[in-house]
Amino acid sequence: MTRPVPGFLWGAATAPHQVEGNNVNSDWWVREERVPGMERSGDACDSYHRYAEDMRLLADAGLNAYRFGIEWARIEPSPGRFSRAELAHYRRMIDTALGLGLKPVVTLHHFTHPRWFAEEGGWTGDAGIERFEAYVRAACDILDGVEWVCTINEPNMLALMVGMRRAAQAAAGAGAGAGAAKKWMSPTVEGAARPVLPDPDPEIGRRLAAAHHAARAVLAERTDAKVGWTVANQALTATPGNEARLREIRYVREDLYLEAARDDDFVGVQSYSGQAVDENGIVPHPQGPDTTLTGNAYRPDALGIAVRHTWEVTGGVPIVVTENGIATADDERRIAYTSEALRHLFDAIDDGVDVRGYIHWSALDNFEWGHWEPTFGLIAVDRETFERRPKPSLARLGEVAGRGRP
Ligand code: BGC
Repeated sequence: MTRPVPGFLWGAATAPHQVEGNNVNSDWWVREERVPGMERSGDACDSYHRYAEDMRLLADAGLNAYRFGIEWARIEPSPGRFSRAELAHYRRMIDTALGLGLKPVVTLHHFTHPRWFAEEGGWTGDAGIERFEAYVRAACDILDGVEWVCTINEPNMLALMVGMRRAAQAAAGAGAGAGAAKKWMSPTVEGAARPVLPDPDPEIGRRLAAAHHAARAVLAERTDAKVGWTVANQALTATPGNEARLREIRYVREDLYLEAARDDDFVGVQSYSGQAVDENGIVPHPQGPDTTLTGNAYRPDALGIAVRHTWEVTGGVPIVVTENGIATADDERRIAYTSEALRHLFDAIDDGVDVRGYIHWSALDNFEWGHWEPTFGLIAVDRETFERRPKPSLARLGEVAGRGRP
């Protein structure tokens, strides 16, 4: 039986745009206004004001970590102008977490950009990397006592979104571009296979890697934090005879980003589901009763595959599972999924993989990038009163945290 890992992080995660509400200066807010039929984040869960309540629920349940983000679009409302008040807001969040015994795992960038950054050309614009570096420098002022910092969330998914938006803009003008960038995980019609996502653009991926390395250097100089980025892992596996095809596909989707983490203090693994690769590429997952609310296959075993693959490609960089979870309205299913995922994770730990924490996605039911229906939360939120209702899955994760092992 696996022994508890000393100092292991047991937590839950959120991202600013998905829970805070009224992130009006961000490119996603602009997109929500422009794309017909897209649901809006609006007040979201009002966590901008209610973060202390969110954190208290996690701490009371027995968790010891909270992964949350700070929002660039608020901190730097126009180029080069940093808001001291917003920085102070995020500092209060960090202090609140520390005061409750939750280790803050702070994400600097989680899919959203200030609208001016997007208008200026974003990551592919001339100043993209320096802009990000300047923001990270300003953020360092509030990171005292923070042990874990994630620079960019899912750079591989970000590269995919930026690439799709660019391609659509080139084809049809700015309005259509916003539509094409709609969430990649849109629920699909029952019975029809969910279309396989296109490959992320490697040119954008390399830019993001350069931005990550620049941010890492700034953070190393100005803070004591362990620094990493968090990579989406699709737990791809080859059908017999298709190992070479798998390697090719995995390189452009994941390994490029994992290789860029080789000198990091840790790497974040984000895993939800898995897919097979055959001679034609990634095999689409047919939709059916077993499908989650984001159209994924129910694959709790994916986490084990993801951490082992990450460990291998990075050459032994310590791992934190920074996201793992399931979009379901049935909390019993969430409990079953999480228990099994944790068993696979601890099997990998037993086999020698250095894993420092498990952070569930998500703390709250939240805005799933254009949709409210896919609920990932350990806590339900009434969207009119903002009342929080912890689900049994939160208590269960807290019990596991108390034991220190599944
Ligand atoms: C993202 C989250 C998202 C989750 C579930 C990850 O891609 O980091 O923002 O909500 O997956 O789809």
